[in-house]
Amino acid sequence: MRILVTGGAGFLGSNLCTRLINDGHEVICLDNFFTGRKANIAHLLDNPRFELVRHDVTDPFKFEVDQIYNLACPASPPHYQYNPIKTTKTSVMGAINCLGLAKRVKARVFQASTSEVYGDPQVHPQPEEYWGNVNPIGKRSCYDEGKRCAETLFFDYHRENKVDIRVIRIFNTYGPHMLSNDGRVVSNFIVQALGGEDITIYGDGSQTRSFCYVDDLIEGFVRFMDQTEIVGPMNCGNPGEFTMLQLAEAVLREVGGKSKIVHKPLPADDPKQRKPDISLARRVLKWEPQIPLEEGLRRTIAYFRTQA
Ligand SMILES: NC(=O)c1ccc[n+]([C@@H]2O[C@H](COP(=O)([O-])OP(=O)(O)OC[C@H]3O[C@@H](n4cnc5c(N)ncnc54)[C@H](O)[C@@H]3O)[C@@H](O)[C@H]2O)c1
Repeated sequence: MRILVTGGAGFLGSNLCTRLINDGHEVICLDNFFTGRKANIAHLLDNPRFELVRHDVTDPFKFEVDQIYNLACPASPPHYQYNPIKTTKTSVMGAINCLGLAKRVKARVFQASTSEVYGDPQVHPQPEEYWGNVNPIGKRSCYDEGKRCAETLFFDYHRENKVDIRVIRIFNTYGPHMLSNDGRVVSNFIVQALGGEDITIYGDGSQTRSFCYVDDLIEGFVRFMDQTEIVGPMNCGNPGEFTMLQLAEAVLREVGGKSKIVHKPLPADDPKQRKPDISLARRVLKWEPQIPLEEGLRRTIAYFRTQA
């Protein structure tokens, strides 16, 4: 197949492009390099089945493709809050442009949505039926509400125009090609530990998160995209739950060194708990994460050592 990946030079996008090329597809990677990097896809540039296009998803585009994976959007708080209006535009206009193209060329189109659509959840773990508890006017809203609006557009194009959609809600994912400085907790901890600095925990460290290793997530993407039973929304992530303190200790064990754990105040709207209910993915895709946290951390730390 010929497959368009928007945001293909980013963390998840570059891992997805590699997987699709390895599966024998032709891949068009579209990216404006806001948070993506050529280095993430450098290993694909010589492949005749791979094409790189510098373009912004907020401007219309046309490609003859069979599938579209829409991943373009900065995903970490410092990047999506850098220009919040642009973040909402990227989610909303990017979705409209992908859906318009999918409608025109009859492509199946995948939306990388997020667990942030659940906001600070009052239901735990979060099943897909939960509508969420989101602040519409806070600093995180440009991302959360942009992604919620993108989901709305996907389902309206599906209902009104029979566009063949797949909407996935991604929970925290980590692995090679994450940026070292974007404020995501796994990369933060690893970079601090490798640099011999203290590890910063916001709050008392009792808030929990679940972490999925990127290869597991990408396997979920491909299985979801290639089945015809459900269109989503479908949660994808690792239900194994860890406190920030446990994560910091696991990183310290793996890296060694003299770093200590220090605490700072919690940022606004930081969710206390987030954990996916993945029963739907288990049942329909026969999918669940295979890579335990220690193994995933080992591989991610090995990657960050090469970046030093
Ligand atoms: N990594 C996670 O844990 C996670 C969790 C939930 C959802 N997601 C979603 O998955 C997708 C990919 O996330 P990621 O972690 O790889 O983030 P990332 O920031 O590494 O990748 C995003 C990519 O999109 C590109 N981009 C941003 N704005 C663009 C625009 N206007 N036009 C074209 N390209 C643009 C960036 O340059 C980058 O390459 C995002 O949509 C994100 O919201 C990720």
